Amino acid sequence: FSFSSASTTSFSSVLNIEPHDGKVSVYFGSNMGTCEDISSALCDEAIRMGFDTSLDPLDAASSKGLGRECINLIVTSTYNGQPPDNAKKFAEYLKTLQPGSLSGVKVAICGVGNSNWKSFQSFPCSIVNALESAGADIICPRGIADEEKDLKNDVGAWRQFEFWPSAFEAIGLDPAQISSDSDCISDVPELNLTDTFEQATVIPRSGDTKLATVISARELQCSTSDRSTRHIELKLPNGMNYREGDHIAVFPENNCELVLQIASLLNEHDLGRTVKVSSTNISNGSQPQQSRGMGHLPFDVPVRVSDLLSRHVDLQAPASAAFVSLAAESTSCLKDREALEEISKLIRNGVAGNLQELRPAQVLLAFPSTRMSLGKFLATVAPMKKRYYSISSSPTVSQNSGGLNVATVTVALVKGIEKTVESSAFTYLDSKEYRGVSSGFLQEIRPGQLVEISIGTNDRFRLPENPSTPVIMIGPGTGIAPFRGFYQAIEAEEKETRRRRPAMLFFGCRNEQDYLYRSELESAPIELHVAFSRPTTPNTKKKYVQDLLWSNRDRVWKYLKEEKAYIYICGDGRYMAKDVDNILHRIARECGNMSESDAIAFYDALQGNNRYLQDVWC
Ligand code: 2AM
Repeated sequence: FSFSSASTTSFSSVLNIEPHDGKVSVYFGSNMGTCEDISSALCDEAIRMGFDTSLDPLDAASSKGLGRECINLIVTSTYNGQPPDNAKKFAEYLKTLQPGSLSGVKVAICGVGNSNWKSFQSFPCSIVNALESAGADIICPRGIADEEKDLKNDVGAWRQFEFWPSAFEAIGLDPAQISSDSDCISDVPELNLTDTFEQATVIPRSGDTKLATVISARELQCSTSDRSTRHIELKLPNGMNYREGDHIAVFPENNCELVLQIASLLNEHDLGRTVKVSSTNISNGSQPQQSRGMGHLPFDVPVRVSDLLSRHVDLQAPASAAFVSLAAESTSCLKDREALEEISKLIRNGVAGNLQELRPAQVLLAFPSTRMSLGKFLATVAPMKKRYYSISSSPTVSQNSGGLNVATVTVALVKGIEKTVESSAFTYLDSKEYRGVSSGFLQEIRPGQLVEISIGTNDRFRLPENPSTPVIMIGPGTGIAPFRGFYQAIEAEEKETRRRRPAMLFFGCRNEQDYLYRSELESAPIELHVAFSRPTTPNTKKKYVQDLLWSNRDRVWKYLKEEKAYIYICGDGRYMAKDVDNILHRIARECGNMSESDAIAFYDALQGNNRYLQDVWC
């Protein structure tokens, strides 16, 4: 997460700010890493502004308490109405606070999430309420960052207009010192790449990832389909366990052709060269600050250039303002330099049209006079991030087949045509096909290959403990993934208890061509309802999962109201999850004779009891 493409200016120069002894303790509540990334970027920024800083998961604040000598900055999301896993203890700690016990404690809170989720901002709001009741000094209005709109811009604007001015005031400094004209490269460390004869090593990209081996990879779509969805079976490394409903985080590698193209644009002709990366910070020239904002690069170990380009940076992420500025510095052509400086400014100020989508390779291709060094490139291109997938298997299957600890993922290939990038300063025509970094990587993966992964627990997205509690699962497209794990677990339960849990599954696809796991679904121990949205048989009406929920409303309602069923939605969060939610409310009104407000209260209560669960993405 970098602020460079937010619609605000990046504060980068610590030089303009008078020395002070301000402290900022940054805490994050994060399941999938977004809030952690935002927090880490804020932490870097605080360092550049001369603050003493720390960065911890929110739970750390429950044991050591929120500091009185510092500004406590909390960045958190909400999952299914509940705190993220590393903020659960903090949520308990909030309940123990006495009125006035936090008087004098300075706090700022930024809530992150997607407004498509029912519980958007609910945990951050509850933190504000609890801290206010305990007398804490909330130094600025809560930040509201919405992924559905523009997360980066929301965070960027909040930190510029709310958080930093309040933080400066809180320590008695004049907020006017926050220069809005500072450039975006004065804090970029200068990376040195030194050749070495030592044996190259391959460094894990995060402390919690391990290598899994691909057992099999197959296509789930019919050969005539224009889409691709892969079923990938992974042998998990020893000690890595999961439960149905969990996620796998995959660290992908960049597309080989793109790596070659970038290497050639950077004049790096020997990708097999082994180097060591080191740095000196050019903003103050003092101590080397190797990992500040550069934690994704392997420092002081022998690595191959190919490894740096394919594993450690995301070559398809949009070019940052700093990248374009350094490209401007790297050309001797005055016209190109001016154009690049203008582009950088536009990106930094967020008035760049779709320049925000310009990729590093496009910049280098459009300005062939640029002679950018690999060091400058690595210092300003976005870090490679892991991507989360819902696991589509149950560990009971591996246990039953004895031996291998297996997890599967169901990955739809993301592809499209590169857009023409246009702004007042620059037009870049492109019509090449692109593939998503991670889905493209997984598309190509073959048995025997190793993949760097970790498990993301999804504690609430579980089958009910009582094996007779009914479940209603709604998962069109690859939203089927966690429910494949669920029906495998239901099958295992049945073998053990000799009773079958009542389960309805609503699956949706366009037609037979993308009817994923068809034969398996048709013989699974579930009541299956399949909605075809683009049926191939003539005179058949298009249907979505919510239409089938509506046709089955009496039983859906009976399960929910009388039999304490759990209901799960997985898949597209932009439209599907909302439309399904609307139908559920309509069912409560129609079948339960409820008013609109009663229906809302009904589902809110269901969510509060962890019986209405979403695993959605946009
Ligand atoms: P469509 O693409 O034909 O519109 C999996 O992607 C399935 O989800 C497809 O059949 C897709 O239909 C369908 N889908 C698209 N939008 C939806 C929505 N708002 N609600 C439910 N299903 C939807």
